[in-house]
Amino acid sequence: MSQNIHPNRQDFNQYMVPVFAPAQFIPVRGEGSRLWDQAGKEYIDFAGGIAVNALGHAHPVAVKALVEQGQKLWHIGNGYTNEPVLNLAKQLVESTFADKVFFCNSGAEANEAALKLARKVGLLSGSANKNKIIAFQNAFHGRTLFTVTAGGQPKYSQDFAPLPEGIQHLPFNDLDAARAAIDAETCAVIVEPIQGEGGVITATPEFLKGLRELCDQHGAVLIFDEVQTGVGRTGSLYAYMNTEVTPDILTTAKALGGGFPIGAMIATDKYANMFVVGDHGTTYGGNPLASAVASAVFEFINTPEVLNGVRTRAQIFAEGLNELNARYGLFEEIRGQGLLIGCVLKAEYAGKAKDIVTLAGQEGLLALVAGPNVVRFTPSLIIAEEQIKEGLQRFDRALARFVNEK
Ligand SMILES: Cc1ncc(COP(=O)(O)O)c(C=O)c1O
Repeated sequence: MSQNIHPNRQDFNQYMVPVFAPAQFIPVRGEGSRLWDQAGKEYIDFAGGIAVNALGHAHPVAVKALVEQGQKLWHIGNGYTNEPVLNLAKQLVESTFADKVFFCNSGAEANEAALKLARKVGLLSGSANKNKIIAFQNAFHGRTLFTVTAGGQPKYSQDFAPLPEGIQHLPFNDLDAARAAIDAETCAVIVEPIQGEGGVITATPEFLKGLRELCDQHGAVLIFDEVQTGVGRTGSLYAYMNTEVTPDILTTAKALGGGFPIGAMIATDKYANMFVVGDHGTTYGGNPLASAVASAVFEFINTPEVLNGVRTRAQIFAEGLNELNARYGLFEEIRGQGLLIGCVLKAEYAGKAKDIVTLAGQEGLLALVAGPNVVRFTPSLIIAEEQIKEGLQRFDRALARFVNEK
């Protein structure tokens, strides 16, 4: 198979379904928060695989779990349970509000499970037509037809009609709109505590509290989508822990496996037990290999050292980015929580976030966008301080070029 030895970026265009537009370079190796491409060029990674590589690349703890489990049992199917998945479920339950866990392979699947469970809750309530789902404009919940419809960005769903019915979108952080819309026919409200893809926008404490009260009042399930904010990203294990609000169902993925695909829906017994055998399922969900890696990653992250370290690192980012902004004046705001950081471009630079990310790549820095106007960073939770500084120097060079070339 000699053609597989040196694939190049052109091969992407030739062989891959064109739903992505990846950078021109191809990373081939990573260690911590450094990466190298095919040409040996080195990069600092502030993107973290879009909030996934919580321990950076090739972390020894994750590698050890992968290798050890890889030599024992990869997959067995859900006709049998397995030891790693039971350990991981126990870790999640003992560290959160939840009583039970359903495992899957991605964030979209976790949300799909949550939305299906919400519909079942509505059905079992005995209340007529209790199937309305409240979601929010600008939200992102995944790419299955149900989750992309729940997402509040029509550009991702409009080409795929007919879409699932019964989902209503409200403006984010608008409690009056929620009060007007949530009623006896509502079975669930799904919300991101921080809208990640939508531009790193934090839900206000009053908004989340209000949603909790409205759900309680109308017997609706409150679902927190913590696919992006979960597993230490904000400096707490889950972002709901930074608020006074506890959801009924929470979805988690991305950082959960530190780069190995896994997702989970966690729920209180009251709702989890409304799913019965055969109601939902998956071939791979909770397989031993994914669970063993996630278990090791979760144990590593769920410590005061790592979680407090996220806050310390966030401070270093904030100081560095504010300093850069004092110099270039490109951003209207630097926002987010912990290591979910959004640099919001001023109106005159609207639509240019991708250009900045491309320049950053050329300067040896991996960064992300969150919509057209926000440059986003979601680095490893344990990125070294000197790498943050080095990455910010590269970002400095990218911004200087942006200012000069614009
Ligand atoms: C908040 C949120 N929910 C769901 C998803 C979908 O997750 P996945 O891409 O793993 O299906 C994402 C992905 O970016 C996300 O940020």
